[in-house]
Amino acid sequence: MNHSVRDINVCVFDAYGTLFDVHSAASQHSSVLGKLEQPISTMWREKQLQYTWLRSLMGVYDDFWTVTGQALDYAMVAHGICDSTTRENLMNAYLELGCFEEVAEVLRKLKDNGFRTAILSNGSPNMLDPVVENSGISELIDVSLSVDSLQLYKPVPQVYQMACDYFNVDAHNISFQSSNCWDAIGASEFGMQVVWCNRYSQQLDRLPAKPHFEIKCLTELLTLLGID
Ligand code: LAC
Repeated sequence: MNHSVRDINVCVFDAYGTLFDVHSAASQHSSVLGKLEQPISTMWREKQLQYTWLRSLMGVYDDFWTVTGQALDYAMVAHGICDSTTRENLMNAYLELGCFEEVAEVLRKLKDNGFRTAILSNGSPNMLDPVVENSGISELIDVSLSVDSLQLYKPVPQVYQMACDYFNVDAHNISFQSSNCWDAIGASEFGMQVVWCNRYSQQLDRLPAKPHFEIKCLTELLTLLGID
């Protein structure tokens, strides 16, 4: 196994959970949610992802904002909360998710060393643009690529192909970073060099491919690239 990411000058990042903390939406409203903050946030995220996979299997597309809202509706009702103001506040919080603390510094170092950078996300542009803007990293990201133009969700291979097409490079010349193991595996199966940012010490999913590297936070990517 290699010990460094080689022959790449494009670094592509998943958005939710990797650059942006999805649980920061519920934590912004912890005073209202109380002890339900964590269970609602966890179910919200789980349902959001399930709904994307199921939609791709069904051949039906609704954008990620719609999916995120429907997942929140499920999670709120499951926990006995029916309050349109809380719903609206939580959805708006998704446009202002907190960025993980190392993200800006890592992106800046990549740019200083001549790497091209992108987000490749399920998020629709009307969700991604505000969250990138609000987190102050716009000038450190060359492009935000959204599945919205394909109307298919990760881990469908065509999604990863979008990054190859945009940068006009082969998959193995891209380093793809995701904290979502299934997304990392999808990109690995597609042929990218993949770094799984295992922020929450999760188990490796048992799927047909594996990420090439595992790190705990994105700062370690700089070491893998030899620019720390
Ligand atoms: C994304 C989800 C998978 O940003 O986190 O695409």
